[in-house]
Parts: sequence; C-alpha cells; structure tokens
Amino acid sequence: MKRILVTGGAGFIGSHLVKFLVRKYPEYRIINLDKLTYAGNLSNLKEVENAPNYQFIRRDITNLQELRKVFEEIKITDVIHLAAESHVDRSIEDPTSFVLTNVLGTTNLLICAREFWKNNFQEHIFYHVSTDEVYGSLGAEGLFKEETAYDPRSPYSASKASSDHLVRAFHHTYGLNTVLSNCSNNYGPNQFPEKLIPLVINNILVNRSLPVYGEGLNVRDWLWVEDHIKAIDLIFHKGRSGETYNIGGNAEMRNIDLVHLICDLMDKKLNRDPLSSRKLITYVKDRLGHDLRYAIDFSKLQNELFWSPSVSIEEGMQLTIDWYLDHNDWLRDVTSGEYMKYYQKHYSN
Ligand code: NAD
Ligand code: TYD
Repeated sequence: MKRILVTGGAGFIGSHLVKFLVRKYPEYRIINLDKLTYAGNLSNLKEVENAPNYQFIRRDITNLQELRKVFEEIKITDVIHLAAESHVDRSIEDPTSFVLTNVLGTTNLLICAREFWKNNFQEHIFYHVSTDEVYGSLGAEGLFKEETAYDPRSPYSASKASSDHLVRAFHHTYGLNTVLSNCSNNYGPNQFPEKLIPLVINNILVNRSLPVYGEGLNVRDWLWVEDHIKAIDLIFHKGRSGETYNIGGNAEMRNIDLVHLICDLMDKKLNRDPLSSRKLITYVKDRLGHDLRYAIDFSKLQNELFWSPSVSIEEGMQLTIDWYLDHNDWLRDVTSGEYMKYYQKHYSN
C-alpha cells in the first residue's frame, strides 16, 4: 500500500493535489504534512478531512528529528514535496526563511528518504515540485527548456534552484529515485490573496487600488491549477527516474492585460459600469530585480506523457472569479487573519 507524504498540502497547489489524490486513489493513504504558515489553510481541505485514506499532521520540514519520526512511524513510501515559502515579494523582505524552508527543509526530506528507503530505492519516488523561475528571465523571444541553464534572480527562485540541485544531487550521488517538475504561474481557487490574481480580485471587491508594478509590461505564463495537478499525477506515476519535466500553460500575458481582463470580467459579474474597475489601477514602484518574462516549452511532457493544458486563461479566469465571489467568507477569513487565530488556539501545543 502506498503511503504518500504530500508536504505543503494545506497551501494553494498542495490542497488541490491532496483532494485529487484522496479521491482518485482510495487505495493510497495520503499524509498531508504542513506547518500551517500564513499560507496554509485547512479549510481548503474540508471536502476530504474525514476521508478514511487522508491524514493531516502539523510539522515543520526544517525539523529533521520530527521528520524522521514521521517516516518511521507512518512508514512513508513516497514523497510529493510542495512545502515552500513561495512569494517573491516576501523573499525580498526576508530571504532567510526561504533558505530555511526551501533549502534546509528539502534537504531534510531527502535525508529521510535516503535513510528510510536505502534498501530499495527503486520502489520509492521522491517528487519535487518546482518553478520555472529557476531559469531566470527571458527577453521578448524564447522559451525555457529543461536544458536551459539555471539563472535564478530572486531569493525565492535562488532557494528553489538550490533545492532542485539538491534533489538531483541525491539522485546522482545516492541513487534516490527522483522526479522533478518546473511549472509556470498557477491560478485558481484557494490562492492566497498576496499573489497577483487573487489580490486583484479581492481589491476590486473591496474597492481598493490595484497595484501594478512598474509599467505592467512583465509577462507571465498562466496555468489553471487543476491542469498542474493532472501533470503531477502523470509525472508521479509515469515520469522517468532522475528526469525533469517543464509544465506550462501556453498562456503568456502582460500583467497589465491580465489585470484588464480581471477588471472587465468583474465589472460584468458585479453589474458595475463598464471600465469602472480599471479606474482602480495604480502604477506603483517596480519590484526589485523584477524578472521580465517567463515562458515554458513543455513539449517533453506533451510528447512523453501526452499532457497539455485543458483550460484556457479566459475560461479559467471566469471559474476563478466565480469561486472567489462564492467564497467571500474564505477571502474574509484569510485577509482578516481569523484562520490564523483559529490555528493558534487549536494547535498551540
Ligand atoms: P503556498 O505558499 O500556497 O503553500 C505553501 C504551503 O507550504 C503552505 O501550506 C505552508 O503552510 C507550507 N509550508 C511552508 N513552510 C513550511 C515548513 N517549513 N514546513 C512545512 N510546511 C510548510 O504555495 P503554492 O503556491 O501552493 O506552491 C506550492 C509549491 O509549488 C511550492 O514549492 C512552489 O515553489 C511551487 N510552485 C508554485 C507555483 C505557483 O504559481 N504558485 C508555480 C510553480 C511552482
Ligand atoms: P506574483 O503573483 O507575485 O507571481 P510571481 O512573482 O511568482 O510571478 O506576480 C505576478 C506578476 O504580477 C509579477 O510580474 C509581479 C506582478 N505583480 C504586480 O504587478 N502587482 C502586485 O501587487 C503583485 C503581487 C504582483
């Protein structure tokens, strides 16, 4: 029986993955290990919290001894590792927490996997979920390929690049059975409203200004989160050992065009005057070291495992906005810090 440790399962992408795996594979046991930082939210997992094949444990991946106990007691068979500090702006303010969680935390998990699986590495998979930001920044042309040299430029991407290197090092040095994927910007329900899309949706709802960094000309490639989950499922089950797969949305947009799209859709949904949300746009000081453009060549994943994105950005944005409008309580709780108070009360040990 597979006992899969999903780290960061209370976060945005992790919670979608946990729900997907719990439902699709009743024969697997899914253990969600999460520290519950500001970005982790158990209400993302309500639909599966009582499922017989699901278990939540609150742990910090920077604590090696605690992780060893988890591997020992639960007899973890596989890892899908998503826990991370994930927001570039926070990494500019506080690089150390990114090094601790993303670099030290990943190393701790690799050490446990090596120790507990050493007699039969081939029967166990260590899947590391990473980002396209490790490749650096593109000009107007070109795409990131799996062979593109790493050139991380923010403390966030530098810490993720470092964790990617460690995963590959454990494959090459000790023979650990690893797979790795580097994905473009995700969007969809349950994303914490510090990232661009939910931040803009929330600010429109409460009539607050929409901060666009610099001139809004930076380009990101956007992927509907459920498409990322399907890719992870395929790579986990069918990816080749030691390989890396790029995952992308084929949906490049300049930030300002994306913000316009959200404004116009929100005006329609909220029955506001056309163009009224656009008036909230405010150009603000640019992010330090702001990467200009990310774009992904995902042909390896497409050709080997027959994956491609299934939801267009227009369709996905409608679904995302509908979700936030239907879950005002979720937004209110995470923006008011109510859910953190709840955790402090219930998990104070
Ligand atoms: P998120 O910030 O929403 O969630 C991160 C989760 O990790 C939270 O639940 C948090 O509580 C947990 N966590 C943080 N530090 C921890 C620690 N020390 N120990 C245990 N748990 C800890 O992040 P996300 O957007 O869901 O991203 C998940 C993963 O996917 C990350 O590794 C990120 O680098 C990668 N990724 C994200 C995107 C994106 O667009 N969001 C794109 C590509 C790759
Ligand atoms: P973000 O969602 O933080 O993701 P990432 O930095 O990982 O790509 O930001 C997406 C883009 O939007 C990025 O170019 C920075 C920009 N941005 C703004 O213009 N205003 C904002 O308030 C935020 C959070 C981001």
